Amino acid sequence: MAGGKVLVVGGTGMIGGLASQMLARRGSSVALAGRDGHLLAERSRLLGHCPYRSFDAYDLEGCASLAPWAAEALEGLNAVVVAIGVAGFGRAEEVDEAAAEHLMTVNALAPMAVVRGALPVLEPASVVAVVTGVIVDKPMRGMADYTAAKAALAAWLGVVEREQRSRGIRIVDVRMPHLGGGFVDRAVIGSAPKMPTGADPTQAVEQHLIASIMASAVQAQG
Ligand SMILES: NC(=O)c1ccc[n+]([C@@H]2O[C@H](COP(=O)([O-])OP(=O)(O)OC[C@H]3O[C@@H](n4cnc5c(N)ncnc54)[C@H](OP(=O)(O)O)[C@@H]3O)[C@@H](O)[C@H]2O)c1
Repeated sequence: MAGGKVLVVGGTGMIGGLASQMLARRGSSVALAGRDGHLLAERSRLLGHCPYRSFDAYDLEGCASLAPWAAEALEGLNAVVVAIGVAGFGRAEEVDEAAAEHLMTVNALAPMAVVRGALPVLEPASVVAVVTGVIVDKPMRGMADYTAAKAALAAWLGVVEREQRSRGIRIVDVRMPHLGGGFVDRAVIGSAPKMPTGADPTQAVEQHLIASIMASAVQAQG
């Protein structure tokens, strides 16, 4: 990724924060997007005052405008990492419609809008990596809405991957395992059942996200 120009959406989160540091360390120029303006400014400072932009998942046009903004700020764009999401717990009948809408918007519609907005501005041989989760393959009781949102995103990415292959753009669905770091404690509704200890975040981001991006970048470059 030396010389890469990367937008990290969810740069204020645990996974997005780790990914942006790792990519910057490998020589990429990074632009950050996240919701929390103060945290964004702080993380930008840690990355040598890289460009940053605040957005909210409910503003889908704003989500779609992130990659065009980053392409201008970085003078090109050849990778996008999307690591936004929120958990939600409770049996289906316990989840109110506002929470259901929130889970679908943040976990599916917003990442889709980010990728949709990125496709026209990505350079040839680019990589788009979107974090979904192992829940796509192993749905859990008490997480129907979260599972449905991640599964919808995964299905959408699968089709986009096939559509973009001929352009040389690789779309990667990163099915991250459960990590330590408190994601499940920031749920929009309900509380997490007792769960096994999560994997080490730094190791998992290296192994599942950064390694996939590197491998896909090599494939994209032929
Ligand atoms: N951690 C895990 O165990 C795990 C496992 C599998 C999959 N994943 C997936 O990985 C992704 C990132 O997880 P994480 O552990 O890094 O979580 P995190 O630390 O809680 O970060 C979540 C990110 O999503 C952003 N976000 C949440 N709601 C938003 C909204 N309404 N508008 C815009 N941005 C919003 C947050 O922005 P602000 O902080 O700026 O508000 C933050 O950047 C999620 O999609 C999650 O489902 C996580």
